[in-house]
Amino acid sequence: MKQEREKFSGRLALLAAFAGSAIGLGNIWRFPYMAGENGGAAFIVIYLLCSLLVALPIFFTESLLGRSSGKGMVSTIKTFFNGKAGRKWCGLLIVAPLLITSFYSVVGGWALDYFIRACTGVFGRISKEEAVAFFGEYSSSVFEPIISHIIFLTITAAIVARGLKKGIEKFNNITVPMLFVLILAIVGYSCSLPGATGGINYLLKPDFGKITPGVLASAMGQSFFSLSLGVGTILVFSSYMKKDESIVSAGFFTVIFDTVFAILAGFAIIPAVFSAGIEANAGPSLVFETLPYIFASMGDVSPILSYLVPILFFLSILGAAITSEISMLEVLVEYFVEEKHLSRRKATFLCFGVCVAIGIICSLSFGPLSWIQIRGNNIFGLLDKVSSNLLMILGSLLFAVVVGWKMDRNKVRSELTNEGTNKVSVKLFPLFYFWVRYIVPVMLVLIFITNIFN
Ligand code: PHE
Repeated sequence: MKQEREKFSGRLALLAAFAGSAIGLGNIWRFPYMAGENGGAAFIVIYLLCSLLVALPIFFTESLLGRSSGKGMVSTIKTFFNGKAGRKWCGLLIVAPLLITSFYSVVGGWALDYFIRACTGVFGRISKEEAVAFFGEYSSSVFEPIISHIIFLTITAAIVARGLKKGIEKFNNITVPMLFVLILAIVGYSCSLPGATGGINYLLKPDFGKITPGVLASAMGQSFFSLSLGVGTILVFSSYMKKDESIVSAGFFTVIFDTVFAILAGFAIIPAVFSAGIEANAGPSLVFETLPYIFASMGDVSPILSYLVPILFFLSILGAAITSEISMLEVLVEYFVEEKHLSRRKATFLCFGVCVAIGIICSLSFGPLSWIQIRGNNIFGLLDKVSSNLLMILGSLLFAVVVGWKMDRNKVRSELTNEGTNKVSVKLFPLFYFWVRYIVPVMLVLIFITNIFN
């Protein structure tokens, strides 16, 4: 007998899952830098507009697809294709979550390793040169990052294998609120450092002159990645949503939580960077090279804080990475349970194995495999770019086209408005429907083309 599909126990659990998926490495290592570099408050405004005008409608389409079908990504999309060939191609949809789960867990592993190191106090007296050299040596070494990557995935898989309520829900309900407390504590500390005002100004001073088409495309890309769109996480989580929950308010809350967290991460990081008199740089080097040194340099003022703050900081990155990884792994596991009829445990084990293997190659691409360069990227960088800049956009385009052109209009309306009971969404529906049919696809195609040329 087929088991009944689990549902989230309530609204808070649902929001914690969406927010947990959205809040991740993207918020901590990409947003602060992008905001500072691309016009500060002006970028934040543009980012919010992108989230509200393009990302949020896609959130709604993905969510209503999942809730109305009560199935996973591939099973849902398949029902809109009649031909056998078309249905077969739908299986390819799991490629994007598969790739992202794999390379994401490599960075998750780094966060785990850095957290453990922070606990042992190694970062206590590290100099700037040592911090840079350490990360270079560490990430290009063979064993340690691979072992951490495997442990990180094991933790995630153990949570996912326990199922929605006993695993995912329990973990998110504790971790997501904890992330906000941690980041707020770090913001308080960072903004009180001498010289922090420079960093606060860097983030807040609006400079609309810096907003170019390229910046627009990257703001858009960032809002897609940050809201976990186009790869099925929102769709699958929504399939666990009860019928009386509102998709519209879930979407708005997710955007709010995600954006607030990203801005807080900015205020946690950039003022500290300024206080240490360092230039804010992007990506892994900001979090794994610059910050350990900054924390260490505070040792003269307060040895206890310079021990404690890195622990809290890497714990928050680790927690944020796990809650995001859970949502991606769930897309894969759900696929094998539903489409290939494996038990949840077997499906998790299988996905774990494949992601470990792909992740190992990604990890080695910083060291022994770094000679493989494709258009200036190592394998890790390539997978990151292809999935975030291309596959996520294509996935979102597919969801928008299916909802706008293939799904019955009345069905779309009834899902989005909870059968006409949600007054605000009843009013907004005609605009939403027009937007998803005409405007969103055109915007997505434009972003896709811009990204291909970049
Ligand atoms: N939103 C996550 C982050 O900001 C990444 C993610 C992408 C998670 C796709 C799930 C799916 O880091």
